[in-house]
Amino acid sequence: MSRKPFIAGNWKMNLTRAESVALAQGVVNGLGGVSSGVELAICPPFVYLDAVAAVVKGSQVGLGAQNLYFEGNGAFTGEVSAAMLTDIGCRYVIIGHSERRALLGETDSVVFKKTRAALAAGLTPIVCVGETLEQREQGKTSEVVRSQFLGSLGELTAEEAARVVLAYEPVWAIGTGKVATPQQAEEVHADLRQLITSHFGQAIADGMRIQYGGSVKPDNAKELLGQPNIDGALVGGASLKAESFLGIAAAAV
Ligand code: PGA
Repeated sequence: MSRKPFIAGNWKMNLTRAESVALAQGVVNGLGGVSSGVELAICPPFVYLDAVAAVVKGSQVGLGAQNLYFEGNGAFTGEVSAAMLTDIGCRYVIIGHSERRALLGETDSVVFKKTRAALAAGLTPIVCVGETLEQREQGKTSEVVRSQFLGSLGELTAEEAARVVLAYEPVWAIGTGKVATPQQAEEVHADLRQLITSHFGQAIADGMRIQYGGSVKPDNAKELLGQPNIDGALVGGASLKAESFLGIAAAAV
């Protein structure tokens, strides 16, 4: 079964408003070299979503947020709900990024609640899993990502799971320039695919996109995206320049 490749840019906590608008415009203007068969999203900081929404509207580039809160509304100072995100034109939301897991105390059970809330609002969640260097060196990669997957997504219904995008992001490869080899990444993706099959069944496993994330650049994208179980990329640093983000998108045919 063929899965539509999906390239998403995670801008993290970077850029000004003007830079965000210019970057989004640069991406939209450069779409000529990107196949219409590639799904694209950019995920600016919350405060720039509205401005970027106006730029990407009607283009191949979807809008995503980097986080949300699982409650619908109410006294949750500083938080942003799924409905607020759809209200300003978001179609995607990144959930459980390793930076949030490590620095902001996000647990699997919080990731699960956020994923459910995103799905209920009609957003496509991009749910992240990945091992640290220490865990990899201890031979625990499979154990760790399987446990994150089950804790974060295991209680979803099959209908919900069918709308999830998974992102495998080895923590040691994020922002470090140390990319996983295509073989290392493919091994984990295939392992996750097997877990999805045993948990949710063949059809869901065949359909679920699994992005790789961690130092993806135009010059390593082709080989990574060429692996049978790598269906896209979640791009941090290289998404902050239109040219490199588009270069990665062009490699995903
Ligand atoms: P990076 O980040 O591409 O800068 O390594 C990836 C991510 O954190 O999503």
